[in-house]
Amino acid sequence: MIKDIRNIVMLTGAGISAESGLATFRGPDGLWEGHRVEDVCTPEALARHAELVHRFYDERRAKLAEVHPNAAHEALAALDRAWDGDLLIVTQNVDDLHERAGARRLLHMHGELRSALCADCGKAVAWADPLPPQSVCGGCARPSLRPDIVFFGEMPYEMDRIDAALRDADLFVSIGTSGAVYPAAGFVQTARHVGARTLELNLDPSAGSFYFEESRMGPASKLVPELVRELLG
Ligand code: OAD
Repeated sequence: MIKDIRNIVMLTGAGISAESGLATFRGPDGLWEGHRVEDVCTPEALARHAELVHRFYDERRAKLAEVHPNAAHEALAALDRAWDGDLLIVTQNVDDLHERAGARRLLHMHGELRSALCADCGKAVAWADPLPPQSVCGGCARPSLRPDIVFFGEMPYEMDRIDAALRDADLFVSIGTSGAVYPAAGFVQTARHVGARTLELNLDPSAGSFYFEESRMGPASKLVPELVRELLG
């Protein structure tokens, strides 16, 4: 599976941060921290209940101060430091645990909790504090800052860069994601199409498990360091 690999794309989801103490999106009750995803993760929800949506992401942002990267984030960061070939870690997660572990070749396709986005001029700015609705953008001076989260119905970030990396990949690995949300759920098919090897690491088989050449089941904190050891020989 991992012989003659030079270019790697790693896709991560909420499962990689679960053992750090961050809730996954699709828990057994189908709720995300007590909310339906549609109530906190759509442009309509932001337009109708800005207070609720901003408060929800303020709570998630505050929670980041209580959690730490786990062995899976650390292993991917170690791979990033040591790997000579191309590597792109594409995360769907809005937490900052990959970068706190030291990963650099990283892209947040669904946005970041520690960023605020101007709905008017599109400027994004680092943001560590609570973000009340009507906060003023430093770029255009309009009261239009919102959480920098890609809501359902909005275009994920950097799709061209992701697509280019997938087309050059020899190995695509999907870690701790349910495979329920497109376009990320379709990356495995692009990777297969270009002849890359495909590997899934998850606690349980995901919705798209059958697309992968190989699936390894278990906690990310065990499986990811094992895979990185294999890759680094
Ligand atoms: P989900 O909550 O849908 O899926 C989490 C996955 O992690 C499941 O497949 C679990 O089996 C797996 N898992 C849980 N604990 C694990 C562990 N310790 N080790 C390995 N795997 C584990 O989260 P995502 O797939 O990331 O979008 O969700 C995708 C997107 O849906 C999110 O980015 C978010 C959400 O709506 C936006 O916010 C736009």
